[in-house]
Amino acid sequence: MSDQTSPSDKLTPYERLRPLRRVRQSRDFRADPIGRDDLDAILGVARWTGSSRNTQPWRFIVISEVDTIRRIAAAGLPQTRALRTATAAIAITLPAIPERAISHAYDDGRVAERLLIAASYLGLGAGIAWVRVDVMDAVSAILGLPTERLVRTLVALGHPSSAAREPKSAPGEARLPLDELVFRERWLGD
Ligand SMILES: Cc1cc2nc3c(=O)[nH]c(=O)nc-3n(C[C@H](O)[C@H](O)[C@H](O)COP(=O)(O)O)c2cc1C
Repeated sequence: MSDQTSPSDKLTPYERLRPLRRVRQSRDFRADPIGRDDLDAILGVARWTGSSRNTQPWRFIVISEVDTIRRIAAAGLPQTRALRTATAAIAITLPAIPERAISHAYDDGRVAERLLIAASYLGLGAGIAWVRVDVMDAVSAILGLPTERLVRTLVALGHPSSAAREPKSAPGEARLPLDELVFRERWLGD
């Protein structure tokens, strides 16, 4: 048996999860495009995302044409502001079935977050851009979506600008402290 240990074995569980804690939204990107290999790898993560009853309700539209990305940005501001500088985007399209709306929204969120995590692992930036109900038709038209599908979430992708890499808040302050978020065994705990 080997007595070799990998560096991660020496890390605490908290330290090992640092890459996940570091996932943040980027909304401002440099002009240089991201590589096809990176995009394909990110889509591979999307593919393996779990969904309700494994229905995989999503179909993804990968957008690399900057003109299309900018038109969607303009249609949906301010929510779509990350698409003003993104060099790629993935539109998560879902069946437009009102009875499945909650389930599909849940799956939408699961895959969107994984896209953010995948981009972060590759040293890229990603940001969620939600499509408001009042601009859904305009965005659907740009993407050529049939009436039986909708898009609520686009994930903007690119190399984050130096401004986007700056911390948005003081160290430790971007999220509520754990003792305000987590109770033990029952509401409000002991
Ligand atoms: C369900 C959901 C919808 C979001 N919609 C948008 C959006 O439409 N536009 C946007 O710029 N950011 C959007 N965000 C990103 C949040 O604003 C962001 O996660 C929050 O500001 C925290 O930023 P950080 O993760 O970089 O710390 C969304 C996030 C979630 C989880």
